[in-house]
Amino acid sequence: MQPVIVGTGSYLPERVVHNDELAKMMDTSDEWIYSHTGIHQRHIAQDDQACSDMAVEAAKRALEDAGLTEKDIDMIIVSTVTGDYNGFPSTAAVVQHKLNAPQAAAMDVSAACAGFIYGLETARGFLLAGTAKRILVIGSEILTRISDWSDRSTCVLFGDGAGAAVVELTEDRPWESALHAEGSGFDKLKRELGGSAFPLKEGEVIGKNAFLYMDGQAVYLFAVRSVGQAIKEVLDKAELTIDDIAYVVPHQANVRIIEAVCKRNKYDLDKFYMNIERTANTSSASIPLALDEMNKKGLLKKGDKIVLCGFGGGLTYGAILLEW
Ligand code: UT7
Repeated sequence: MQPVIVGTGSYLPERVVHNDELAKMMDTSDEWIYSHTGIHQRHIAQDDQACSDMAVEAAKRALEDAGLTEKDIDMIIVSTVTGDYNGFPSTAAVVQHKLNAPQAAAMDVSAACAGFIYGLETARGFLLAGTAKRILVIGSEILTRISDWSDRSTCVLFGDGAGAAVVELTEDRPWESALHAEGSGFDKLKRELGGSAFPLKEGEVIGKNAFLYMDGQAVYLFAVRSVGQAIKEVLDKAELTIDDIAYVVPHQANVRIIEAVCKRNKYDLDKFYMNIERTANTSSASIPLALDEMNKKGLLKKGDKIVLCGFGGGLTYGAILLEW
């Protein structure tokens, strides 16, 4: 037995902010952002929306796609770095409440932009162990809320959104995974304030370390190296080549990263599904968002082998090869 995705769903906030709008707020341009990243626009959540609200919408749509209800779910796994609360309670617990699924276990996974890959593989473990029969895996992020809007080198990159998948076990299908982390790069992409290393102190003025920090070039080099390696690892484990794969669904961080991965590994860029132009980087939501878009467009046919690949803060990375 191996897991199979039986439903997908996603949610993007209504408000769309084009690069041109950002160019009115800071010294940037659509030309710079698009040529350096492939991004034209991002969705930004309303002030009264929290991470869990977007997660719930994506989850409802995934359940509907699967022909299931919230009562059919044994467990909810939410991957996020922008959860409703700082540390606890988990966003998954809030989602469980808002979905009205009290029977479901609930936990968050923290692996930044590789979070959906880690979450899906965690779900596989629970399914194979018999702990749960059907699991909702959700990636939901409100990155615009932790972005440093005075730092044009990072704030233009991110957007908000959520994606979800329902997984259950089925007859044998290929499923290979590779999960890794380069913890030595933990400080290349981070948000310091509020954790136990940099605790909040009453009365203290909030500084830059309350917001997202990224060493863009270090992360870029790591990403190009790690994506190729993770894809190769799952292909090798499955004894397949890239020619056997219908689509690769990479974390949507930067078109240039994916182009560099393809050039380096001689992969066909057309196999890599990208929607970053419209969504920007939504961290752990980006893979399930793209997957749902592909599903709804009818791009995925039963029996198609696809590779999902994530990378980001941690520095974490990983890939999953599965059959649709
Ligand atoms: O999901 C998490 C994973 N994260 C990533 O995948 C991000 C990986 N890194 C990257 O994608 C790239 O490093 C960036 C897109 C973030 C930056 O691209 P870059 O080509 O490395 O640019 P840079 O940081 O070297 O900056 C080049 C120039 C600088 O100006 P000077 O010093 O050469 O005069 C920056 O100040 O571009 C300037 N710049 C901007 N200009 C206009 C930086 N941001 C902007 C901007 N608009 N938004």
